[in-house]
Amino acid sequence: MTDELKRGLEGVLVAESDLSYVDGEVGKLVYRGYDIEDLARGASYEEVLYLLWHGSLPTAAELDAFAADLAAEREVDDDVIETVRALADAGERPMAALRTATSMLSAYDDEADEADDGEATIRQGRRITAKIPTVLAAFERVRQGAEPVAPDPDLSHAGNFLYMLTGTEPDAVSEETFDMALTLHADHGLNASTFTAMVIGSTMADVYSGVTGGIGALSGPLHGGANQDVMEVLHEIDASSKDPVQWVKDKRDGGGRIPGFGHRVYKVKDPRANILEEKLRDLADSSGDTKWLDYTTAIEEYLTDQGLVEKGIAPNVDFYSGSVYDSLGIPVDMYTPIFAMSRAGGWIAHVAEYQEDNRLIRPRARYTGPEDAEFVPLDER
Ligand code: CMC
Repeated sequence: MTDELKRGLEGVLVAESDLSYVDGEVGKLVYRGYDIEDLARGASYEEVLYLLWHGSLPTAAELDAFAADLAAEREVDDDVIETVRALADAGERPMAALRTATSMLSAYDDEADEADDGEATIRQGRRITAKIPTVLAAFERVRQGAEPVAPDPDLSHAGNFLYMLTGTEPDAVSEETFDMALTLHADHGLNASTFTAMVIGSTMADVYSGVTGGIGALSGPLHGGANQDVMEVLHEIDASSKDPVQWVKDKRDGGGRIPGFGHRVYKVKDPRANILEEKLRDLADSSGDTKWLDYTTAIEEYLTDQGLVEKGIAPNVDFYSGSVYDSLGIPVDMYTPIFAMSRAGGWIAHVAEYQEDNRLIRPRARYTGPEDAEFVPLDER
């Protein structure tokens, strides 16, 4: 037993995992040994899910069967849609609505209480992963005063989500762009939301509980919420016609943090940010609309000149993802739920992997409260 205190568990090893590795010094991310660059450019989100859940990349036949099984689970019970409707009517935030609906999904899964069987966990995980896009798209449609669009099992995970969101089949570029974003967000070591899911799983609670907890953890501005914050900053700059560099100067003068910069593990630019920046450049080139690219580039160049990037506070995945989602017409407050839609795959993989050789996660706190306090009964206080 050690009494060394590691605030925020920084640098602490708590488990072994075959799933993903983040090298923060050189800016490298791998899923089961495969570089994220290769996966983002060459593999679909379904292939990545298969890799994470089943240990290897699928053959074409394995992928077809896996994708069909996943697509077959997209429908959600009418009761869930009615709840989503009620949450939208009440003005609930999308991440909170997703958290509530994901928790509710377990009521319609006969296997939901099976937590000690890894294969059952993956089957439940498949249902959760398939249904989250349906829930999210229904929430967005209802909020816009439209009716939910039923899932199309013939479309890919990415294509079907965009279809359910808009009611129109996406073009190839949009589908491929969104699929790439899903792949980039699928897993990332023991980040806060994954660790949350694992802590819950380590009690041998079911995977619905783990994913619901993961959504809660991801919602915060220090984690998944940063992509929305970045886009809100870009909109604020645009609406005020302010120079983006001036916005950053003002923010830093006020002691504020720049959303989309800094990371607990990366000390250089996040490799996912590099890939998304390149994608944003391609999209801007083909549309001719370079506004978000111009703003983000100006901010990054300024902060690089200021030495911030050299100090290890470099662009992370959230700095560029919002601008890419904006090009797909996705509303700003759906960005973090989309992150959850992808990361659910990673949460499920980690819960299943950890439960295979489970040990309850139970750290300690250094007690700093008073000692030997004399108890005074209520009526004498
Ligand atoms: N802007 C300005 N300064 C920063 C920033 C930033 N975005 N991030 C860190 N710093 C500074 C911080 O002020 C501190 O300086 P000092 O030592 O002088 O007090 C130093 O860097 C170390 O910061 P820290 O808070 O100890 O580092 P951390 O490892 O706890 O923080 C972080 C990681 C992600 C919480 C933080 O960088 C941050 O708040 N970034 C903005 C929010 C954000 O973009 N989050 C998304 C993270 S990546 C995707 C994801 O995980 O979901």
